[in-house]
Amino acid sequence: MAAKKPITITITGAGGQIGYALLFRIASGAMLGPDTQVRLNLLEIPQGLRGAEGAALELHDSAFPLLSHVEVYDDPTAAFRGTNLALLVGARPRTAGMERGDLLAANAGIFGPQGEAINAGAADDVRVVVVGNPANTNALIAAAHAPDVPADRFTALTRLDHNRALAQLAPTVGTPVSDIRDLTIWGNHSATQFPDVAHATAGGQSVAALLAYRLGGPDAAREWLVDHFIPRVAKRGAEIIEVRGSSSVASAASATIDHVHDWVLGTSNGWTSAAVVSDGSYGVPEGLVSSFPVESVDGAWRIVQGLELDAFARHRIDVSVAELQDERDAVRALGLV
Ligand code: NAD
Ligand code: LMR
Repeated sequence: MAAKKPITITITGAGGQIGYALLFRIASGAMLGPDTQVRLNLLEIPQGLRGAEGAALELHDSAFPLLSHVEVYDDPTAAFRGTNLALLVGARPRTAGMERGDLLAANAGIFGPQGEAINAGAADDVRVVVVGNPANTNALIAAAHAPDVPADRFTALTRLDHNRALAQLAPTVGTPVSDIRDLTIWGNHSATQFPDVAHATAGGQSVAALLAYRLGGPDAAREWLVDHFIPRVAKRGAEIIEVRGSSSVASAASATIDHVHDWVLGTSNGWTSAAVVSDGSYGVPEGLVSSFPVESVDGAWRIVQGLELDAFARHRIDVSVAELQDERDAVRALGLV
């Protein structure tokens, strides 16, 4: 049987924390399956090069059968040449005294040129996942700088929020996470996101009904959702920072693996959540990179259509989408998109 052509994957911020947690799982086959060879291009800025070079040495020492090549770069044009999959992890963190506009501008300085490099040299089938924060708007900036790449190839990670929601829900409904399906994260990867269980089922039963049964009625279920579940999921990033002293790493890497795995190999067990370029579905303005319920069909994300939204859901989605619009307005005002 002819061997499949290796997939070229560019990981930015490869010398950082998430990079370190991600690289070895990619090389092990966890992301693209046991039959796909991978070539890894590790992109860093000069300060991060030694970290990426060290990771490259350890990748070699792991003798992964699926790893055909590793190269370290500090030039985006070279790092994205021929890439099939771009994992944009490296970003400028917010530091003391930095306003939101400063953060957006600093990141535009990263994601604009990376978008241009993807546009100039990536493979025709390139897929992009933005992990670096603010992930949705960084994806918007990268897409705006890659006019020749179809917009549906640009995504931002909200799978971590989705996984966090599954993990919070499972013990309360009393089922394993694998029994829960059709949960949705809507909006921004930020505290305004809306984790929505209205259409979710666990073991074939409605999650709303199970919550009502286990918590003592529909009012108690609603109170738990509004006062506990939604804020706990939406603010989990801050909780992790408070406990660990720095932002989530292994869970973020794991969610990135899940996102790409399902995008390339297809979703099973219902839909998942990803931030994709809006086509206007559910009233989210076209062009915003917002999280939706998505299925992967023939290697492309499709937004699940036709879900009914009650007034509460509509309001929560509108709040998060308004934040995304503010972010887009801020980068537009700076002339960045
Ligand atoms: P880190 O600081 O450990 O690593 C970031 C790396 O990116 C550093 O090595 C840095 O040198 C590099 N870098 C900076 N600018 C770059 C550029 N222009 N090109 C290439 N590399 C560059 O941070 P981390 O813990 O790995 O987190 C990375 C990002 O992921 C942060 O923005 C964090 O907020 C975000 N994050 C997102 C999610 C999510 O769910 N979307 C979850 C967790 C963390
Ligand atoms: C997370 O969700 O863990 C990260 O995006 C970090 C953060 O700032 O919340």
